[in-house]
Amino acid sequence: MAGYEAFGKEEIKEVMDVMETGILMRYGFDAERKGVFKVRQFEEEFAAACGTAHALGVTSGSAALKVALTALDVGPGDEVICPAFTFIATYEAVLEVGAIPIMADIDASLNLDPDDIINKMTPYTKAVIPVHMCGAPANIDRIVEVARKSHLLVLEDAAQAVGASFRGKKLGAFGDMGIFSFDFNKTITTGEGGMIVTDREDLYKRADWYHDHGHDHNPKIHRAQEDHPLLGFNYRMNELQGALGLAQFRKLPEIIAAQRQNKAALKDALGQVPGLTFRNIPDPDGDTATFLGFHLPDAAATERFQSLLGEEKIDAVLFKKNKWHYVPNWEHLIAWSTANSKKYPFTYPGWRGKVDYSIRIIPRAEELLGRTLFMAIPVKLPAERLERLQEGIAKAARRM
Ligand SMILES: Cc1ncc(COP(=O)(O)O)c(C=O)c1O
Repeated sequence: MAGYEAFGKEEIKEVMDVMETGILMRYGFDAERKGVFKVRQFEEEFAAACGTAHALGVTSGSAALKVALTALDVGPGDEVICPAFTFIATYEAVLEVGAIPIMADIDASLNLDPDDIINKMTPYTKAVIPVHMCGAPANIDRIVEVARKSHLLVLEDAAQAVGASFRGKKLGAFGDMGIFSFDFNKTITTGEGGMIVTDREDLYKRADWYHDHGHDHNPKIHRAQEDHPLLGFNYRMNELQGALGLAQFRKLPEIIAAQRQNKAALKDALGQVPGLTFRNIPDPDGDTATFLGFHLPDAAATERFQSLLGEEKIDAVLFKKNKWHYVPNWEHLIAWSTANSKKYPFTYPGWRGKVDYSIRIIPRAEELLGRTLFMAIPVKLPAERLERLQEGIAKAARRM
């Protein structure tokens, strides 16, 4: 579930390398930094593992979404199709660049339904953001196919899916750009942090400039003399984050292996519950096993089972009731309560579209998420804790 469970001497060593130089900035200080470039090294190793030409470290997954959308030139007057089931940052990032997030339905994978993209398209649609929720892939091949046919850009939100893949190719590498989060709760963590990947040199350059006040990062001249091809902002990753990221990223295969083993054990226990079925994962081999998703026959049974598990001190999340992961629950979005009194970008005169964030247009999400629970899978699951979970699940199942 979270990389902090795997913290050890490797993280301390990488952080100490930085502390010994005293240089926390990823750029400049060439004489003082003694060859230590942790963010750069993290990016290089990340891009190589992802199979993309470029990776860019940034301050968070949310920043990664905003920087990537900016690089893609998504802005005022554009619409971006996003799934109804995601963390709110996906929608916030679209609004941050002045565009409008358009809600679409999910399929059995619980991720964006490729068939609903066409239904939600309008003349304003510029991009689509498939989100790989809870460590498992969307039907990303079909999503990319539909998007390409309709001339839409694809930005993969793989914030929750670092290390995941679909038919052997890493998530994040299918779209024009992909992003990841390393926040405190993610599979690997740098406290806060994020990464953008892309194969396209032009998009990488725009992201690189924008995330650092427009600097063109010319290695031949002093930073103060660099050119500024565009106006940007500051979303730079710092060297301490880079150091943590490197150590954590090198542990990713073992974190995922441990989660897979623990998930299999919990799946066996839950498999005994009458009427319970598991989330459909388009490519189970590409799942990072950070979560175990399962369905009960109906909403009433789901809420009852959740509460029986709760009595056994077992957490199972009903995301549909959560205030942060299901669009129809976001009253502030529905009221266009952006952080400016003008309600921009919903009031942008160049956009005359319509938004609908009601359950009416996402029947699949409404039905499916109402009978879906998720259990977070720990990296470390000692035998006695596993036994307690197995007993608790069996007890809850008997009382159903
Ligand atoms: C799907 C999704 N997108 C984006 C983000 C934003 O990442 P961060 O917390 O690093 O800003 C998250 C974080 O939970 C997420 O789950």
